[in-house]
Amino acid sequence: MPKERGQFAINADEAGAGWWRDAVVYQVYVRSFADSDGDGIGDLAGLRDRLPYLRDLGVDAIWLTPFYRSPMVDGGYDVTDYRQVDPMFGDLADFDAMLADAHAYGLRVIIDVVPNHTSSAHRWFQAAVAAPPGSPERERYIFRAGRGPDGAEPPNDWESIFGGDAWTRLPDGQWYLHIFDPEQPDLNWELPEVRAEFEEILRFWLDRGVDGFRVDVAHGNIKAPGLPDVGYSSKTGRNQRQSRLLEGTKLPYFDQDGVHEIYRVWRQILDSYPGGRMAVAEAWASSPERLARYVGPDELHQVFNFDFLHATWSVDSFRKVIDTALAEATLVGAPTTWVLSNHDKPRHVTRYGGGALGLRRGRAAALLMLALPGVAYLYQGEELGLDEVLDLPDELRQDPAFRRTGESRDGCRVPLPWSGHTAPFGFGPAGAWLPAPATWTAHTVAAQEGESGSTLELYRAALRLRRAEPALRGGELTWTEAEPGVLAFRRGELTCVVNLGTEPVDVRRYGTPIVASAALDGDFLPVDAAAWLKQEPLG
Ligand code: NOJ
Repeated sequence: MPKERGQFAINADEAGAGWWRDAVVYQVYVRSFADSDGDGIGDLAGLRDRLPYLRDLGVDAIWLTPFYRSPMVDGGYDVTDYRQVDPMFGDLADFDAMLADAHAYGLRVIIDVVPNHTSSAHRWFQAAVAAPPGSPERERYIFRAGRGPDGAEPPNDWESIFGGDAWTRLPDGQWYLHIFDPEQPDLNWELPEVRAEFEEILRFWLDRGVDGFRVDVAHGNIKAPGLPDVGYSSKTGRNQRQSRLLEGTKLPYFDQDGVHEIYRVWRQILDSYPGGRMAVAEAWASSPERLARYVGPDELHQVFNFDFLHATWSVDSFRKVIDTALAEATLVGAPTTWVLSNHDKPRHVTRYGGGALGLRRGRAAALLMLALPGVAYLYQGEELGLDEVLDLPDELRQDPAFRRTGESRDGCRVPLPWSGHTAPFGFGPAGAWLPAPATWTAHTVAAQEGESGSTLELYRAALRLRRAEPALRGGELTWTEAEPGVLAFRRGELTCVVNLGTEPVDVRRYGTPIVASAALDGDFLPVDAAAWLKQEPLG
């Protein structure tokens, strides 16, 4: 049993039940975190071995991307058995051992649940394909007759998020809906059996002791009655996949009011367990108001706020996103979430310009995020300052969207560099399922550990302070009048200053720096840098 280190071990009691309100959650993309058995794929035993690293980093919780039985067409978001660990990741005993150790280290564990679709290899879908049109087996999914002569056209104009039609036809003529890959058929959530099955899946993992769930495509389960056309598509000149990101766009397969009924039931299940079990929705909606409907005392605990990730490098953009998110969260009494990177988005160092500039900005953005009220979600490797791997050979890319749209999320999923000077940099005893670039030799954990000024030590310092400063956990945010191009706000005694402008800024009036993303030049905070400063107590 691992030793605790200054943290609390997790007990299934009411103490700390509100832990999720201001937590820092670290996203573990399991197949790229650490490989224990040399097959080049990260696994639960590898994660377990590396838990001390996460404890020392100072995060409160980890979120594991799917590790369930899966053909891995979509990185495990295509599940064949929601109650089993895929052999490539280990088995249930490995999961239990990892969970027990995590709890002993004071780390909560959140797992992914994928309710919108199963894998096409799931026994339900296999049974549906084997059964005739109109059968109860087909009722569990969304099967329809096609349009046009011989039903040869899809039942409506919906498009897959991964490109192309959202419908695939079976040899018997019926079509089935898949908002993602054809190997990810959408479930029919109007059917009580589907609801009951997922309620049982939640209980299965809650009984094992997980602290919560990240709900995949939480806005997708219910479709508009009659499955009406959207009215436009790539074929007619406007891409549904891109339009879903525009404010005001309402698609008949996303964010239907009926989804909330599902999560109200899920909340009751979560609340029936001790110790503060929670759920965070991955949801996209047409406005911040609609997004806020996923959270509250009778629904989910959090919803990802991806607007922060889309903010441009300017005071106005960050300020607008922060103000909107805080206002919405206050209205519904839920904590705000902040995300800079995840397994679906190009890493933020690269989004901010890449190279030295991207890294400077990425480090500043991290200090900004960790000073904000609410919950911060970190994506594995951001604490190492990793950039997006842009030059992966096409034949190694595994994202199903790549074949259909030319866009690929593989570049942010390259296995983590732990140590050494050659790839795969200590990821495991042998190779890695995606190659790391040679430049990552400078980014390994071993290269950064104990090095003052490294990105890893910056994250550690910020997380330590965040834990130590009560004002950073529960307190309010107050904007401070600042120089042009400078974003500044107070949390109690602390002020966070981000220099998004073009000139170094004298920060003396904000207090004494306690952490900074770049070395100060005397009293001046350089451009593209952030600092936390503390007011000397009066007297
Ligand atoms: C969102 C997940 O984050 C993404 O990786 C996945 O492809 C889709 N949902 C479909 O499950």
